[in-house]
Amino acid sequence: MKKNIAVILGDGIGPEVTQQAIKVLNAIADIYGHEFVFKYGLMGAVAIEKTGEPLPDETVELALESDAILFGAIGDPKYDNDPYATVRPEQGLLKIRKVLQLYGNIRPITIYPSLMHLSPLKESKIKDVDFVIFRELTSGIYFGNKHTSADGLTASDECTYNTEEIERIAHLAFKHARKRRNKLTLVDKANVLETSRLWRKTVQKLAHQYADVQVNYLYADNASMQLIQNPQQFDVILTDNMFGDILSFEASIFNGTLGLVPSASVGNITALFEPIHGSYPQAAGKDIANPIGSILSAALMLDYFGLHEEANKIREAVAWTLNNKFVTKDIDPINFYFTSTLGDLITEYVGNKISGDVNHENIELRKSTVI
Ligand code: IPM
Ligand code: MN
Repeated sequence: MKKNIAVILGDGIGPEVTQQAIKVLNAIADIYGHEFVFKYGLMGAVAIEKTGEPLPDETVELALESDAILFGAIGDPKYDNDPYATVRPEQGLLKIRKVLQLYGNIRPITIYPSLMHLSPLKESKIKDVDFVIFRELTSGIYFGNKHTSADGLTASDECTYNTEEIERIAHLAFKHARKRRNKLTLVDKANVLETSRLWRKTVQKLAHQYADVQVNYLYADNASMQLIQNPQQFDVILTDNMFGDILSFEASIFNGTLGLVPSASVGNITALFEPIHGSYPQAAGKDIANPIGSILSAALMLDYFGLHEEANKIREAVAWTLNNKFVTKDIDPINFYFTSTLGDLITEYVGNKISGDVNHENIELRKSTVI
């Protein structure tokens, strides 16, 4: 299979984690006989610096002519600390989501038994947790009218949804639930918000078409508590843009690090794959960031291409590194491996260059000596 992949490295640790995913994809191409062609585009603070714009037209063109997009991370402290900035890196990501109509953001939450002791939750609570968040990504409060009064003392962000926007992601979520445990939880704030009541009405109507899926409804405040108190109850969570942003970040820490969670953003044109973590500017260029969120995003990309065996091979490689304590600094601040070393190990595993019987000594040599 030949695929053209647009790579947007982005800001902070984006480049170094994405390079690891590319290494892994190249190993997959070698072993399974595929051809992945990577072409690079700019977005984020790095794009503002080079072109004045967070998302230059060339990047949009590249995205439109590619089969998928692999994206790193976005954001820079220079803009974070300046609420007066009118051009911001994040505008690039929001614009590409809108232009490509990437309405469905899919964030799987998986627990790794070898990391359970690092979880902020008790092992008994997170054991066997396995759910997927379907976050609406191109509407709601993120994209409504924004306004600041002339005197600068009042500001507003409108939250708007229409039924079509709700239906298209709801269909995705219902169909996915059918491939899993047939359970869907809609998270909203229907006791307060008009948009949330529209979500409930729309999902209630659709539920008839998916009679085999059990549907539950939770208010967002309750859902945020239930995620901590009883996360095992969830299978597919369906929610709007803002609640999805917050709840997925809450769930991302279940393994003790937020560096592992991948995401797929899908619409009707080119899909985009990115880890859910941010640009972590403090770690940029230090080779210490966790590349697994990006590598697992590449696996989601392969699933999207229909290459499930290849995607599963990557997931197997990731589980193998974690089980063998080949981890980055976010997981073990003393006995850690570099971003690039972990990328090499996963690449070698995928390329069948590591036998079951690992030569720990050789790998130990590649461990960080910085304590
Ligand atoms: C995410 C990020 C983005 C969002 C930011 C960078 C605009 O936090 O993908 O979750 O809020 O959607
Ligand atoms: Mn977020």
